[in-house]
Amino acid sequence: MAIMILGGDGFCGWPTTLHLSRQGHDLIIVDNFSRRDIDNELEISSLTPIKSLGERIRAWRDLTGKEIRSWHFDVAKNYDQLLTLICDEKPHCIVHFAEQRAAPYSMKSSRHKRYTVSNNINATNNLLAAIVESGIDAHVVHLGTMGVYGYDAAGLKIPEGYLPVRMAGLDGSVVEREVLFPADPGSIYHLTKTQDQLLFAFYNKNDNIRVTDLHQGIVWGTQTRETALDNRLINRFDYDGDYGTVLNRFLMQAAIGYPLTVHGKGGQTRAFINIQDTVRCIELAVNNPPQKGERVRIFNQMTEVFRVIDLARMIAEMMDVPIAQIPNMRKEREENALVVENAGLLTLGLNPITLEKGLLEEIASVARKFAHNCDRTKIPCVSRW
Ligand SMILES: NC(=O)c1ccc[n+]([C@@H]2O[C@H](COP(=O)([O-])OP(=O)(O)OC[C@H]3O[C@@H](n4cnc5c(N)ncnc54)[C@H](O)[C@@H]3O)[C@@H](O)[C@H]2O)c1
Repeated sequence: MAIMILGGDGFCGWPTTLHLSRQGHDLIIVDNFSRRDIDNELEISSLTPIKSLGERIRAWRDLTGKEIRSWHFDVAKNYDQLLTLICDEKPHCIVHFAEQRAAPYSMKSSRHKRYTVSNNINATNNLLAAIVESGIDAHVVHLGTMGVYGYDAAGLKIPEGYLPVRMAGLDGSVVEREVLFPADPGSIYHLTKTQDQLLFAFYNKNDNIRVTDLHQGIVWGTQTRETALDNRLINRFDYDGDYGTVLNRFLMQAAIGYPLTVHGKGGQTRAFINIQDTVRCIELAVNNPPQKGERVRIFNQMTEVFRVIDLARMIAEMMDVPIAQIPNMRKEREENALVVENAGLLTLGLNPITLEKGLLEEIASVARKFAHNCDRTKIPCVSRW
């Protein structure tokens, strides 16, 4: 199958590209390297020493004989180039990762808010408009976030995208509908993902575009079977206050003996998934497209739920490091319950890697191994809202 990966140089996009290439698909990456540019802006770098995209692709060809082609352009700005590429390549599937993905970065200043909105929403709209204009029936697989639901649904099991509602009809009858679960974004980044949902719903209804929207939890881990094959294929690992996600930050902090930074009470409950399960979920979504005419398919791409303080305690005990409870920088509830439906991907065959099984391996193979690359001054979260 011909598959385009928008954002294929990123943390999720690169291992997904390799995983799908290994299955024998024909892979084309589009990336504008904005993530690498943001590293320069923030004066940070991945804990793991990542190679240029060209070197990564050459290494993959040397090791496996498989070709990955790549294009360097901005999906949010270069509509004509995107359209031409889709018309030329006629992809069966387009996996869309090409968005600014850090909530703290999106809240740093008005410039960062405006960049995140314009980049993310234009990237998604350009992709959908280009598919319509090309006339190519490409299945869109999009990486959304569990954050679209917000963290205020105590007493409910969060469904996969749609909520059944009953209302009193004008004639007194009961009217039943399924609506998108009420959006409740906690940052400008999350807001763009809730807007993406409306774009998908509209293009699906109006133009019959087939879409799978994966509402992903927080990804932890670094390497997959493919990225671990050679040092030149290594995946990125973000640990800084803007891009580092909570569990990977804890792993790195533990590896260098830095007290684990818990914001506020730590009762924030979040959904998680290992990077190896991310690539497997995307493979499952790619291989199981919705039918033409089917509404947007939404899966909750997560495997486990934890409270931040419990994660910190687990790692503190395992690694003998202290916990530092510091003031919360975000406007969010410091305690919430979270129960999530995730039957969709499990039914398709996902067999999750649990934290219990993967944690120690991750600390040994990545966090400890590359601890010497850590710039401790970049660990604190400085974005506040
Ligand atoms: N990492 C997580 O924990 C996580 C959790 C939930 C959802 N997601 C979603 O998964 C997707 C990928 O996340 P990631 O962690 O790999 O992020 P990332 O920043 O590492 O990767 C995104 C890639 O897209 C590229 N990109 C961004 N805007 C672009 C544009 N306009 N044109 C071309 N390329 C562009 C970047 O250069 C980067 O290589 C994002 O949409 C994110 O919202 C990630």
